[in-house]
Amino acid sequence: MNNIDLVRMLELPERGDERGNLVIAEGETDIPFEIKRVFYIYGSDPDVVRGCHANLHTEFVLINVAGSSKVKVLDGEGNEIVYSLNRPKTGIYLPSMVWKEMYDFSEDSVLLCLASTHYDETEYVRDLEEYKKMVKESKV
Ligand code: TYD
Repeated sequence: MNNIDLVRMLELPERGDERGNLVIAEGETDIPFEIKRVFYIYGSDPDVVRGCHANLHTEFVLINVAGSSKVKVLDGEGNEIVYSLNRPKTGIYLPSMVWKEMYDFSEDSVLLCLASTHYDETEYVRDLEEYKKMVKESKV
């Protein structure tokens, strides 16, 4: 099993009515982990590339609650998939140990990020070559 095979889009439940829309993201049910951290990214120019890291332990769900962006996921073995995020009720699930890059942000993009851990810089792998080496070593 390659972790990139676990990447998937999530359709969040919507309880809209005549007053407007309401989307639910409940930890351990709609979101496949207990949510320990929430952050959001906005005001990134379209030519900016964010992320560019893998996480040893953290799982994420990313949702463009406004606007749109793209997420490229790499497995360090030559496989990559690009996902488009453009709906407030659609998220992407990212397991640990996949390389991710977020880019192509629309001007109105607000990218909501739900994480399974508290922030710990030591579990971020920010060098692609180092990440590839770790993937290779984990398969031996
Ligand atoms: P960074 O990981 O570079 O953001 P992105 O993955 O979107 O490119 O984080 C930018 C800065 O914010 C960096 O100094 C670390 C800090 N940060 C926290 O303190 N806590 C957090 O939960 C996150 C995601 C980042």
